[in-house]
Amino acid sequence: MSAPAAPQVWDPDHYLAFADLRLRPALDLLARVPLTEAAQVTDLGCGAGSVTPYLRHRFPRADIQGVDHSPEMLAAARTVHRDVAHWVQADVAHWQPAQAQDLIFSNAALHWLDGHEVLFPRLMGFVKPGGVLAVQMPDQFGQPSHVLMRETAAEGPWAQTLGALLRPAPVAEAGRYYDWLKPHCASVDIWRTTYVQELHGDDAALNWIASTALKPLLEALAPAQVPPFRERLAAKLREAYPKRANGVTLFAFQRLFIVAVRAEQMS
Ligand SMILES: C[S@@+](CC[C@H](N)C(=O)[O-])C[C@H]1O[C@@H](n2cnc3c(N)ncnc32)[C@H](O)[C@@H]1O
Repeated sequence: MSAPAAPQVWDPDHYLAFADLRLRPALDLLARVPLTEAAQVTDLGCGAGSVTPYLRHRFPRADIQGVDHSPEMLAAARTVHRDVAHWVQADVAHWQPAQAQDLIFSNAALHWLDGHEVLFPRLMGFVKPGGVLAVQMPDQFGQPSHVLMRETAAEGPWAQTLGALLRPAPVAEAGRYYDWLKPHCASVDIWRTTYVQELHGDDAALNWIASTALKPLLEALAPAQVPPFRERLAAKLREAYPKRANGVTLFAFQRLFIVAVRAEQMS
């Protein structure tokens, strides 16, 4: 495994501006976790800790750790949710819990890591027999927002700068997660949901992706390149996601869910 990379700089305020829309899939995932009790729980890629209080509410007596490698996100988590969990700075690619976990829960984080064929079985190995690995990841990489983002990045004077940052398919086909996890698991439940989100304001689709997938690209550009890049992408996104008569932009966002229960007998 490669050496830890410097974490991407996150902006908790921009990310949390869409808190309700981003929370819903996490709660949909948590609703499917088939545990009544848990002693050891990890919120992996916990960000600003938006979901961690829901884990605390569900498992009031658990030892919960929130793990993330972004100092900005962890600072926000520590400020707002100080006593909800232990907040730990670590790169998920190298993270290892001190003891086996009843639940490893990860909302909207693991798509930032490559090598899922190694990562997922590795994480499952940190789960107790009968415990759960529950993961939600955006599965938006073939949808217009992300296709147009990659197209714009590849066709301008910034193509060379941005080329190395483009990640065409970080999330694998659903069946591959089944194949990687099932040998270790009693059950692997996988589903996909498309949330048709109401976004408001001008360039709403651009604004949505600017706090996440687009952020590393904007940061890599020279300052003078940011306005022309944004405007070129914004024009494409306005066409793909037109404002409706009432001013709302409907933005279909697809997400992949995995709830894997570790077999009692380790394989
Ligand atoms: C979209 S946010 C989701 C945060 C939180 N799970 C939520 O649902 O609000 C993604 C988070 O994953 C974290 N992340 C991405 N790659 C990571 C890595 N390799 N190690 C640890 N955290 C990582 C980022 O720092 C960021 O806080």
